[in-house]
Amino acid sequence: MRERRCGPAFTRHMTSSRNRARLSSKVRHAVRRPEPILPHARRPARDTWLRLRARDHVGYYRAVMRSDTSRNPYGAVGTPRHERWLALGRMQFDYLLEHGLRPQDRMLEIGCGNLRAGRLFIDYLDVGNYYGIDISPDILFAAQETPVREKLQEKMPHLTPVRDLRPDFLPDGHFTVIHAHSVFSHSPLEVIDECLAHVGRVMAPEGFFDFTFNETTGVEHHVLHEDFYYRAETLIARAEARGLVARVMEDRRRTGHKQSKIRVTHPGRG
Ligand SMILES: C[S@@+](CC[C@H](N)C(=O)[O-])C[C@H]1O[C@@H](n2cnc3c(N)ncnc32)[C@H](O)[C@@H]1O
Repeated sequence: MRERRCGPAFTRHMTSSRNRARLSSKVRHAVRRPEPILPHARRPARDTWLRLRARDHVGYYRAVMRSDTSRNPYGAVGTPRHERWLALGRMQFDYLLEHGLRPQDRMLEIGCGNLRAGRLFIDYLDVGNYYGIDISPDILFAAQETPVREKLQEKMPHLTPVRDLRPDFLPDGHFTVIHAHSVFSHSPLEVIDECLAHVGRVMAPEGFFDFTFNETTGVEHHVLHEDFYYRAETLIARAEARGLVARVMEDRRRTGHKQSKIRVTHPGRG
C-alpha cells in the first residue's frame, strides 16, 4: 500500500560504494532537516505498539487504518496525493472492464477503502449492484463521502464494516464479480486462507474473484507485518485446497503493474 523503499532488493542495491556516498549525503541532509523523516521513524514504533495491543492481525490492521485515516484517508489507502488516488482507481476499473465486468454484474469489493475504484464501479454498475466491505469503520466513514461528492447516491451503494473475512450475512452464489485490490498484500496467509474458504460460497457459479498480491519469486516475507510478499504458487495452492481454480493474470505481469493478480473461479466455469 505504501510506497516503501526498503526490502532485500533495496538493501543489496545499497552495497555499492557509489550508493554508500549517496546514503551519507542523505544522512547529512536528514540531520540538517529532520522534519520530513520523523514520521517514517515514528511509524515502526507506532506499529509495534498497535500490534502488541491487538488480538489478531485484523485487529492490528484496523488500528493502523484508524490511525492513518485520522491523518489522511487518501494516504490510508496508499495514495496521499489526490491525482494518484484517482489514477489507481482508474487503473483498477479499466483492467476489470477489459476483463469481463458488465453493468449487470453483482459486485463484492473486499477491502473497498474510501472507494478509490469503488466510485467508478458504482457509477458503471446497475443500481444496487455494488457491495463494499471493509474491516475499518473509519475508512468506511470516509468512503461514505465519496458517493455524496460524486452524486452517486441514486446508485444505492452498500458499504458494510466486517469483523473478519467470514461474510456469513451475505447470500450463497450471489456475486458475479468479487474484487480485492491491495488487500492480500497486507494480509498474512491465515487471513487469505479464511477469505478463500468463504469466497466460494458467495460467488455465483459463473462468477470470478480477482485479487492482487505482492509477488516474490524468492523467499516469502513481510515488512513490519503490513506488507506481505508471496509466491504465486502458494496462493494458487490455497485456492485449490478450497475446491476453487486459480490462475495468474499474465497480461498484468507483462504490463509491469506493481502488484500481480490472480483470478479464482469455480471448477468447470467456461
Ligand atoms: C490499501 S487499501 C486498498 C483499498 C481499496 N481496495 C483500493 O484499492 O482503494 C487496503 C484496504 O483493505 C482493508 N482490509 C485489510 N484487510 C482486510 C480484510 N481482512 N478484510 C477486509 N478489508 C481489509 C483495509 O482496511 C483497507 O481499506
